[in-house]
Amino acid sequence: MGEGSARHEVLRARLAQFSGFGATAAGGVHRPEATEANRAARLALLDWLADLGFAPRIDPVGNIFGLAEIAGPEAPWIMTGSHIDSQPNGGRLDGTYGVLAGTIAAAELVAQHRATGQAACNLAVAAWCNEEGARFQPSVLGSQAYTGAISCDWALDRVDGEGISLRAALAEIGQLGSDAPAPHPAAYVELHIECGPVLDRAGQRLGVFDRWWGCRKLELRFEGSPAHTGPTPMHERRDALVAAAEVIGGVNRLWHSQPEGALHCSVGRCEVAPNSPNVVPSEVTLFVELRSTDADVMAQAHQQTLALAETAAGGAKVAWHVQRDELRRPGQFAPALQAIANDVARELGEPAMRLDTIAAHDAVPMARICPSIVLAVPSIGGICHAPEEDTAPGDLDLGLDLLHGVLARLVADGPGMLAADQGGSGA
Ligand code: HGY
Ligand code: MN
Ligand code: MN
Repeated sequence: MGEGSARHEVLRARLAQFSGFGATAAGGVHRPEATEANRAARLALLDWLADLGFAPRIDPVGNIFGLAEIAGPEAPWIMTGSHIDSQPNGGRLDGTYGVLAGTIAAAELVAQHRATGQAACNLAVAAWCNEEGARFQPSVLGSQAYTGAISCDWALDRVDGEGISLRAALAEIGQLGSDAPAPHPAAYVELHIECGPVLDRAGQRLGVFDRWWGCRKLELRFEGSPAHTGPTPMHERRDALVAAAEVIGGVNRLWHSQPEGALHCSVGRCEVAPNSPNVVPSEVTLFVELRSTDADVMAQAHQQTLALAETAAGGAKVAWHVQRDELRRPGQFAPALQAIANDVARELGEPAMRLDTIAAHDAVPMARICPSIVLAVPSIGGICHAPEEDTAPGDLDLGLDLLHGVLARLVADGPGMLAADQGGSGA
């Protein structure tokens, strides 16, 4: 069996194993951060990293690292990775594919260089905590703490919908680490499913994301008065859900006022209290997302959203305020890494397609500290964040080969080839 096919067999076996952690009847996984299923996946990864000879670590915000010092203590590091937390009833590939493929590719290179002793760089694998932003907000939480965009304490103080902090949730599953994080790398390479329809519709098997969309994430809170839904006269009601419903409709129409494809907008979560069929809703929180490559479009949509809330709250005679307002600016990944990835793809006989990523990845915060890139394989039907999320096995294998080739060059030649550009811009 050739080297390539051996690594493909390992990928299939490991995907089958990790798809069992939080497996859902619909064929996906339910593995939000710090749940029991996430704990099982974390422990399996830590065991595997140790078996492969990586020094496993868990840092103070629950990021998992596997370190292989194959070029010496003074040598720079190359890092690959992604995340193993999932959306609620999500897909089995989002994040997990990149962690498994990164581990397989890195392990092969570590074995090769331990035998030859010619590595220019050390190798690290990362599984970032709470990338999805599903249970705890914001998303890409662990990688933001690692890069210094937020403090560890602030990250650990985030609470989920039940009021449980990330700190308590990680402690509960024995994953509140105390190890030092991995050294900051000279380059970061992530492999991920596209989570969109472009590659699949274009009939392309490999993609290289060269830029990421910006995103504005708001939590809007509406406060009315609880009352009996029966006897309370209609004109006396202060119904928070009536206001929120108007905003949901309005936000989902904002894209019509922009050029085609310029704005993606959604309300993905609505928390209602007391959430009883016969009590007028008194408290509602909406989780709004506005995504674009154009900062002006995002700013305009932001203002329109606030105006919608003001009008809707006034009409329903309820109070409202912005509970969270997080801006992730659009940005560029490292051109030098794109060039290497395109080269390796050509060598594999499958030219890579240039892509935007509208979904966030841990490579976005990482681009603040080093040249970073995301490599992509097709999502069948563009489906992501759903149990039907899938990619052809041959494309998963090809993506692994692309990642292996890019890492092989960086580890052998060192990050000097990246001197031309120090990372992306934005983030
Ligand atoms: O929010 C995102 O785009 C990512 O999927 N967590
Ligand atoms: Mn992901
Ligand atoms: Mn995701």
